[in-house]
Amino acid sequence: MNLKTVSTQPFSDQKPGTSGLRKSVPDFQKPHYLENFIQSIFDSIDSKDGSTLVVGGDGRYYNRQAIQTILKMAAANGFGRVLVGCDGILSTPAASCVIRENQAIGGIILSASHNPGGPEGDFGVKFNTSNGGPAPEKVTDAIYARSKEINEYKILEAADINLDRVGSFKLGTMDVEVINSVDSYAKLMESLFDFPRIRELFTSGNFRMCMDSMHAVTGPYAHEILEGRLGAPEGTVMNGKPLEDFGGGHPDPNLVYAHDLVEILFGSDAPDFGAASDGDGDRNMILGRNFFVTPSDSLAVLTANATLVPGYKNGLSGVARSMPTSQAVDRVAQRLGIDCYETPTGWKFFGNLLDADKATLCGEESFGTGSNHVREKDGLWAVFFWLNVLAVRGDSVEEIVKEHWKTYGRNYYSRHDYEEVDKERAMDLMAHLRSQFPTLPGQKLGNYEVEYADDFSYSDPVDGSISENQGLRIGFTDGSRIVFRLSGTGTKGATLRIYLESYEPDSSKHDLDPQEALAPFIEIAEKIAQIRQFTERNEPTVIT
Ligand code: G1P
Ligand code: ZN
Repeated sequence: MNLKTVSTQPFSDQKPGTSGLRKSVPDFQKPHYLENFIQSIFDSIDSKDGSTLVVGGDGRYYNRQAIQTILKMAAANGFGRVLVGCDGILSTPAASCVIRENQAIGGIILSASHNPGGPEGDFGVKFNTSNGGPAPEKVTDAIYARSKEINEYKILEAADINLDRVGSFKLGTMDVEVINSVDSYAKLMESLFDFPRIRELFTSGNFRMCMDSMHAVTGPYAHEILEGRLGAPEGTVMNGKPLEDFGGGHPDPNLVYAHDLVEILFGSDAPDFGAASDGDGDRNMILGRNFFVTPSDSLAVLTANATLVPGYKNGLSGVARSMPTSQAVDRVAQRLGIDCYETPTGWKFFGNLLDADKATLCGEESFGTGSNHVREKDGLWAVFFWLNVLAVRGDSVEEIVKEHWKTYGRNYYSRHDYEEVDKERAMDLMAHLRSQFPTLPGQKLGNYEVEYADDFSYSDPVDGSISENQGLRIGFTDGSRIVFRLSGTGTKGATLRIYLESYEPDSSKHDLDPQEALAPFIEIAEKIAQIRQFTERNEPTVIT
């Protein structure tokens, strides 16, 4: 086996976004493109000699090839051991779990999350640090800086490793262990949730569930845990085989893309509970029979019911949500007397709060929920949490959420996305909006008075770091909000996200369609941001 040093030239576009470096597959297939970025990661890890690295991905097209390259580069860069998921599969939360369990120095997760896959689809590389969480900004900045200077990378010339089954191999002096992708994660779930109680629910004959893995990474996990350990009947998991192109679908668990599941849950003879997860298994959607739970509400409900679950029976140290996520959980936190943190968009901002035990549960409006059990959001974890709550309370999903609204009031919430908008025009829209900020406060827009208009900036309470320009917020005196952000994960043009929220304490008004309830704010958003004119679109691409 030969250690090779290959000369290369920097690429100028390897800046990690909200969640790692995400590009189209053809971009990643350019000669040296993947290698440059991997070497830039390795160069930014101190004392990697002899250390353990975790590698796995969501099974999308190019996953296997990329893993072989990464293994050979890891061997050439002095790592002592790499743990890699069988078939190259590790969901994002499972990778986080394996990193933590094995005191690894970090992990590389290959995924473009919910973006479509296949030869013309997207691919991505995420680097997680030793706490199991996404690399914080200072690390991704260092990786980016390195990627702009890199002139060589190291790789071992060796045969490919067989990833098809569990086994141990040597690459040069480095150990490669192909591990069962599900085991560690399943054990962790078993330690948090009341499996016997959930099993009873499934075997009672009075409860049916449908889990849509969307031909993405959670298939093997859901089959093993739901149908295996929890006794759900075979067939509970649909689209459970990970496919390189996700069966041609868009593995994003929302009402638009998880349409198979939505049809079943909103059809006649619908099951009691439905859930879906995304490409890499960190997102979740929760449905009841004919009922959709917004991710923001899900976070609030889980927080309010946490002590029913063994892993959280002693209560929560605090909660955290991303800024655009609705303020429903704030109300629960207030009643529980615990802190509620508001962070910028992206799971990496929760890491410090979790490490410092300032927050136990975290969530984002973008179908992400999780806790301190790992350092990623975790789609199946949210499903088991809901199952545990359903098993203990014996109420339906709809009853639980409606009762929650009765207690805390309802935060009507919706996100309007304009995808693949011209980048310049999207930036102009933001600039135009920002230019009105000095004069907006105090103005009456429709029936609502603007209380503040600002560009969200976050000061991390643990390490004091400051993250600026995290979204434009317009808040009204009644607590309603409109937030504008440009996506940091899109790969084509710009994606404009508009987040709308209003609060309704009166339970006789809790049955409106959110688009109807939010109509005045949709109008205000158009008026102040001239969305149609700037995006040249008449309506959003996706409404969630
Ligand atoms: C999106 C979501 C964000 C999430 C991220 C990764 O990022 O909005 O909440 O953390 O994907 O799943 P965005 O495209 O908005 O930057
Ligand atoms: Zn994801």
